[in-house]
Amino acid sequence: MSNAGTGGGSISYDRLQQLKSFDESKAGVKGLVDSGISKLPQIFIRPPEELAADHQTPSQFKIPVIDLCGDHAKVVSGVREAVETVGLFQVVNHGVPLKVLEEILRAAREFHELPQEVKGEYYTREKMKKVKYGSNFDLYRTRYANWRDTLFCVMAPDPLLPQELPLLCRDGIMEYSRQMKVLGRILFGLLSEALGLSPEYLESIDCAKGHSILCHYYPPCPQPELTLGTSKHSDPGFLTILLQDHIGGLQVLWQNQWINVPPLHSALIVNIGDMLQLISNDKFKSVEHRVVANHGGPRVSVACFFTLDNYPSQRIYGPIKELLSQDNPLLYRDTSLQDFNAYYYSKGLGGNSALDHFMLQR
Ligand code: OGA
Ligand code: NI
Repeated sequence: MSNAGTGGGSISYDRLQQLKSFDESKAGVKGLVDSGISKLPQIFIRPPEELAADHQTPSQFKIPVIDLCGDHAKVVSGVREAVETVGLFQVVNHGVPLKVLEEILRAAREFHELPQEVKGEYYTREKMKKVKYGSNFDLYRTRYANWRDTLFCVMAPDPLLPQELPLLCRDGIMEYSRQMKVLGRILFGLLSEALGLSPEYLESIDCAKGHSILCHYYPPCPQPELTLGTSKHSDPGFLTILLQDHIGGLQVLWQNQWINVPPLHSALIVNIGDMLQLISNDKFKSVEHRVVANHGGPRVSVACFFTLDNYPSQRIYGPIKELLSQDNPLLYRDTSLQDFNAYYYSKGLGGNSALDHFMLQR
C-alpha cells in the first residue's frame, strides 16, 4: 500500500508493524478497549501541529431543523437555504418509525459487541465484498488512525441477500434500508425542487438508485483529546442520511469553526455529498464534518450513503446543464461514480476535498 493519501511522508517500519498487528487482530478498536488499554496506542495520536491548531471557539450557529410534514413550499425553501449554506440539516416527522431507528441502533451496537471470533469472520479489506466489517478503511494511508469500527453493507441497487448479513442485525438493517429508500426519494424530490428542477429530476439521473449502510461504533476512548472518532471529511455520494445516538460528537465545519450537531431524539441528519455538490455546480455544499472521540459511550451511528458502490454503472455525471449560465460557469469536469469513488477511497480521510481533483482549472 502506498502513501497516496494525506499521509505525508513514508510510514516507518515500526508504525507499519503496529498498523499490521492492529489490522491482523481483526478485533478493531473495540478489541483494544476490551484488552484493557489505558493509554492511546501511538498509531491513533494526532500530530502535534494538528492538535495545536484545533482550538474550539464557541459559536452561536444553530443547525437547521426541518419538519418534513410542514407546508410544502416552506419545506423546500428551508431545505434550499440549509443546503446552500451549511450543507447539513436535521429532519423531524420524516416518516421513519422510532422503532426502526431504535432497532438499527441496537443491531449496530450488538454486532460490534459480538465475540471477536464471530464478527472477525466479516473482517476484510476486500473492495468488492458487500458486507464488510473493519476499522479505518484508510488505515495504511492516513497520518493517524481513527477511534472507530464500521460494518459496511452495500444494500442497493443489487438487493443484498438477508443471509449475507450477520443474524442479529439482519432484520434491523433490511428494514432500515427499506425506510431509507423511501425517505431518500422524498429528499431527492425536495432537493430537485430546491434546484428549481422538476421533482423527479435527481431520481431520473439515478441519484437514489443505490445506497450503502455504514454502522459505526465509537468505543469509549481513554484519551479522547489526542485522537478523533472520524477525521475531517466530506461524504463521497450524492446524499447522506445519518442517525446518531444520544452521545453526540458529530461536528461540522462552518466558517472555520467546528459546530456541534446536537443529538435530537428521533431526528435524522441529512447532508449533501461531494457528488451532489459537483452536479449542482457548487450550489449545494458538501460540508466537511468529523466526529470527536469520547470518554463515555460507546457511541453508535448509522450512515446511509446514496451512491453506487461496487456497481458497474456507465453513467457520466457533470454539472447539470440547466443550472449553468454566464454568471454560473462550469466548475467541474465529468466523472463516473466509479472514478470518483476510486479517487475518494484512495485518498482516505483527513486531507483536502476529493472535489479539488475534479475541479476545472481556470
Ligand atoms: C460518515 C460520518 C458521522 C457519524 O459516515 O461519513 O461522517 O456520526 N459519520 O458517525
Ligand atoms: Ni461523513
